[in-house]
Amino acid sequence: MEDLFRLFEELPRQGPGSFSATKRALEAAKPLLKNPVVLDIGCGTGKQTTDLASLLPGARIIGTDVYPGFLQKLRNWSAENPEAAEIKPVAMSMFDPSVKPGSIDMIWSEGAIYIMGFSEGLQKWRSFLKPGGFLVVSEVTWLKDDIPDEIEQFWMKYYPAIKDIQGNIDAAVQEGFETVENFTLEREAWWEDYYSPIESSFSELEKLFKDSKIASEELKTLKTEMEMHRKYGDCYSYQFYILRKD
Ligand SMILES: C[S@@+](CC[C@H](N)C(=O)[O-])C[C@H]1O[C@@H](n2cnc3c(N)ncnc32)[C@H](O)[C@@H]1O
Repeated sequence: MEDLFRLFEELPRQGPGSFSATKRALEAAKPLLKNPVVLDIGCGTGKQTTDLASLLPGARIIGTDVYPGFLQKLRNWSAENPEAAEIKPVAMSMFDPSVKPGSIDMIWSEGAIYIMGFSEGLQKWRSFLKPGGFLVVSEVTWLKDDIPDEIEQFWMKYYPAIKDIQGNIDAAVQEGFETVENFTLEREAWWEDYYSPIESSFSELEKLFKDSKIASEELKTLKTEMEMHRKYGDCYSYQFYILRKD
């Protein structure tokens, strides 16, 4: 597992995302937030965490990930950017975060809730929010009704719980959230900070991790993922859901 984390450690981000999407999602919640306490779950090396810290200088942000190595980057960034919001990096699992119930104004989680499952994550994390608190997540989502077999089979293998937009909105209602806004992550955001850096150093990565079964398998999967995205990137994307606790 350590090899898998090392593979992703040098990337600008560990999943698809962009500054403009983070900013857009924040705009939906920002007018209602005053010096909020923000919990970023599965923050990785923290690109979106540091974007939030720049956009919300009065906030207190807790950046959490299961892999402590990622969190060092957050520490370094905070030391170099004292004018931004305070970031406290904490290594913890999203399955059982040590967070006081009702203590958080906004939970943020880009590209990570799938690890628990969308509904399971919403259910577990809801209790950490203050009444009226926000939960902002991005989740891989079908964008069309008519899905070609090849891409359907791909996602059935890697994430059979994938739903369409309405399916996720319904799941959010079921778990006690209102959907304030939702929007689709732009197609280029899969490439700029994520697939392209992997693709451009692919042979070096293959050499570097040739003795690691888990990392070599992941590289193969990433190659297929990139092919699938080139072919079918109009059928699915990360959808941002800006949810408010009822
Ligand atoms: C797809 S990455 C997304 C990272 C980051 N939010 C981004 O968008 O670049 C998923 C993240 O979840 C973390 N993760 C995996 N299992 C976890 C767990 N049980 N608890 C907390 N974080 C976990 C991984 O280490 C990784 O950083």
